[in-house]
Amino acid sequence: MKAAILQLLRASNGVVSGSVVSARLGISRVAVWKQIRSLQALGYDIRAGARGYRLAASPDVLHSWEFPGRAERVVHLPQTGSTMDVARELARKGCPDFTVVTAERQSAGRGRLRRVWYSTAGGLYFTLVARPEIPVALSPRVSFLASATLARLLRTGYGIAAGLKWPNDILVGGCKLCGLLSEMEAESERVAFITIGIGVNVNNRLPAVDPPATSMKTLLGRKVNRRELLSRFLDEFEEGLSAGDWDGVIPAWRRYQVTLGRPVRIAAGREELRGVALDVDADGALILQAADGSKRRIIYGDCFLAG
Ligand code: BTN
Repeated sequence: MKAAILQLLRASNGVVSGSVVSARLGISRVAVWKQIRSLQALGYDIRAGARGYRLAASPDVLHSWEFPGRAERVVHLPQTGSTMDVARELARKGCPDFTVVTAERQSAGRGRLRRVWYSTAGGLYFTLVARPEIPVALSPRVSFLASATLARLLRTGYGIAAGLKWPNDILVGGCKLCGLLSEMEAESERVAFITIGIGVNVNNRLPAVDPPATSMKTLLGRKVNRRELLSRFLDEFEEGLSAGDWDGVIPAWRRYQVTLGRPVRIAAGREELRGVALDVDADGALILQAADGSKRRIIYGDCFLAG
């Protein structure tokens, strides 16, 4: 109901009378008024006048009804430990493909390799449950598709010079803008589900981390609407996943990457490797060439651009 009322108010771009809302939605005018009151309490600036209602401003909160066509598959939490854990539990209980868990803040946001992901208000933090019908061997490509999709959206939709650092970080001018963490569960040789967690520094205060972080607000000099960003990403990613062009994923990732051809340092557990990042193979592994010319295939690790 909230989605329908907001849609009417937004489509009108002006004042809509209570009787029009009531007739269009088939509810009483008292019920309309109650819904308006509840939207106002949630931070929607809806002005009520003699001629009807006008939506003056919406809060940038990721309520499920703000995603028409997806509302039943969006779980929005004001605060949680980590959206990864909530999404995994929902996936284990059989939630539908492309269920999204968003949180305004996370108290235990996590990154790759057991790092902390600082998740204060104003950032975009979400985990998506995907159930692609693919063998386990193809699963890394889902993350590469997600990061390539997000980098393309940041470039084409926001004019941000987003670059991909292997495997799936998004950097701008050497500073981290987005991080991606994916976890998978399998049934025999096939993927049961993948949870893809993405954190984007949008309007949040930046943590003091190394490498340094940046945000969309810092880069663009204005606040960015997170709902619009998430909605556009979900549309584009869902389209990419359903296209199923798995051979095209790494080439798409290469288009925006900033790692290849550069000297890098890789920290993988206790091991530290140095060399030139030569390429990424079809499975997303990094091909590293050491100073003596030997090559190593790296499947996980922290990559630092060394020059
Ligand atoms: C990284 O760069 O190491 C990955 C960071 C991933 C952060 C996101 S925020 C939403 C989701 N929930 C988490 O706890 N982590 C991911």
